Amino acid sequence: MASSSSFCCLGFLCLLVCLLPASVDCMVRHYKFNVSVISVFTLIDFRGPTLYAREDDTVLVKVVNHVKYNVSIHWHGIRQIRTGWADGPAYITQCPIQPGQSYVYNFTITGQRGTLLWHAHILWLRATVHGGIVILPKRGVPYPFPAPHKEVVVVLAEWWKSDTEAVINEATKSGLAPNVSDAHTINGHPGPVSNCASQGGFTLPVQSGKTYMLRLINAALNEELFFKIAGHKLTVVEVDATYVKPFKTDTVLIAPGQTTNVLVSADQSSGKYLVAASPFMDAPIAVDNKTATATVSYAGTLSTTQTTLTIPPPKNATAVANAFTNSLRSLNSKKFPAAVPKTVDHNLFFTVGLGINPCPTCKAGNGSRVVASINNVTFVMPTTALLQAHFFKQKGVFTTDFPANPPHVFNYTGTPPANLATTKGTKVYRLAYNSTVQLVMQDTGIISPENHPIHLHGFNFFAVGRGIGNYNPKTDPKKFNLVDPVERNTIGVPSGGWVAIRFRADNPGVWFMHCHLEIHTTWGLKMAFLVDNGKGPNQSLLPPPVDLPKC
Ligand code: C2O
Repeated sequence: MASSSSFCCLGFLCLLVCLLPASVDCMVRHYKFNVSVISVFTLIDFRGPTLYAREDDTVLVKVVNHVKYNVSIHWHGIRQIRTGWADGPAYITQCPIQPGQSYVYNFTITGQRGTLLWHAHILWLRATVHGGIVILPKRGVPYPFPAPHKEVVVVLAEWWKSDTEAVINEATKSGLAPNVSDAHTINGHPGPVSNCASQGGFTLPVQSGKTYMLRLINAALNEELFFKIAGHKLTVVEVDATYVKPFKTDTVLIAPGQTTNVLVSADQSSGKYLVAASPFMDAPIAVDNKTATATVSYAGTLSTTQTTLTIPPPKNATAVANAFTNSLRSLNSKKFPAAVPKTVDHNLFFTVGLGINPCPTCKAGNGSRVVASINNVTFVMPTTALLQAHFFKQKGVFTTDFPANPPHVFNYTGTPPANLATTKGTKVYRLAYNSTVQLVMQDTGIISPENHPIHLHGFNFFAVGRGIGNYNPKTDPKKFNLVDPVERNTIGVPSGGWVAIRFRADNPGVWFMHCHLEIHTTWGLKMAFLVDNGKGPNQSLLPPPVDLPKC
C-alpha cells in the first residue's frame, strides 16, 4: 500500500492546539488554547487537549489565533443556554478570530454530563483542530452504572496527506466532490495493521477483571465509523452527553460529531486484542476505506503474543448500523427523565440532500456544480454573524422565511425530478421562546441517497421516529416513541429514509443546524433557527461579550 509508507514519512503541516490549564480545582475553569501551526515530519498525535469540567461549572477558554487562517471554536453539544456568543460557528454566532487576535469563550455547563467534543468551526480546519470535552457529574454524584476502573478518551479521526484547505478549494473550483482522506486514526494513529512500520498505534493497557470506560468521539470530517474490539462486548451507557439504557453490542456506529461512552470489561485473562475503526457508507459514494487499528493489551502479556484480530463490518453494513441505532433509548429514570415534548407547536418537514446548480467556471463539472440543500434552499454564508445581526436588529443580513415544508412535493426517495437546481439564501426559521418543534428530516435520492448526520446547535432533541422510504404523516406518527426516545445533538438521517425529532425552543439565540459531513455543510446543507427571547432576563440572550471578534 503505497499510501501507508508515505504516510509515515511525509511531512505535513498541522494545526496544533496547546493547553495551559490555569486552575482546574474550582468551579470556574480557565483554559488557554493557543492555535498555532507547526511543521512536523512524522505523523504525530495531532489531537488537541481534552477539556475537563463538571456539570454546573463555568468554563472560560481564551483562544489565541497564531495561524494565518481565521479561526473559531465550537463546543459541540454544549447547550450554551443564553450564551450563544460562545457557541462558535463562524458567521452564525460570531465573526471569526482573526490572525493575531483572541477571544474568551465563556459558558456554563447546565444539565449535561458525559462526553462531547470541541472543534474549529470554520472552513475545514476541524480536520486537525479538535479535541474531547469530558463533563463529570457534580461532585459526589455517581454515574447511573458501576464506576469504571479507568476512563479513556478515544478520538477517531481522519488523516490527510494534503492540506485539507487545498482539498476543499480544489473541489470547490471543479464543482465536484473532494478527495477522501488517506487514513483513519484512533487517538492520532492509523495503527499496527496499517503497514506503517514505525507506528505501533494506540495501545490501551488493561488489567484482567477490571472495567474500563471508553469515551468515543468521531472527529472525522466526512465519515461515519464502526468501532469494535476483538473478543470484547461493548456496553453503551451514554451518547452525546446523555445517559442511555445500557445495552451490549459488538459494534458501535458513530457519526462525525457524535460521542458514545462504552464500558469494556477486561474479561479475558491475558492477550492482545485488535481495536478497529472502519467507515460506514451504504450508498454508492466514495469513502476512505482504510481501517484504523489500535490494541487492547492485558497486563502480563508477552510482547511476542499474537494479537487476536477482528473483522470490521463491510462498509455497506446497513443492518449492523440499524441494529445499533435501534438499540438506543433514553435512560428515562427518576433522576434523568426524558422530557419529550408531548405537544407540537411547529410541525416541520425538511428534505435534506444534494442538487446541481449551473457553474460556468466549473470545467471538470461540465459547467455545473454539486450543491446541497434543506427544503431546496442552499444556505449562503453571511459576512456578518447572524446572532449579531439579530441582537443589534441589523437589517439585510438574513430573512426569516425558511420554508416549513418542501417547496415542491415529489417522490423524495424515488425517481428525482427533472430540475435539480436549488435556490440560494440566508434564511432562518423563527421560533417563539419555549415553543415545541417536531421536525421530520427526509433524505432525497437526488444524485444519490445518503446518510446525513444532522447536528443541531443549542439543543438536545429526542429521536422519536425513523424509517426507510418516504415519511407518511398519517401512519408514521402513530409509531413514534414519546416515552424513552434517545436524546442527542447529532442524528443520522438514514440513506433513503427519514428521521423525526422533537425539541423545545427554550434557548434564545440563533442556532445553526447542518449536516456534520463537512463536505455537505460546504455545499450548503445548513440553516438556522432563530429563537426569540422569552419573558425577563432569565429567558433572554445575554448581551455580547466586549471582546466578541469583529468581521
Ligand atoms: Cu460539530 Cu456546527 O458543529
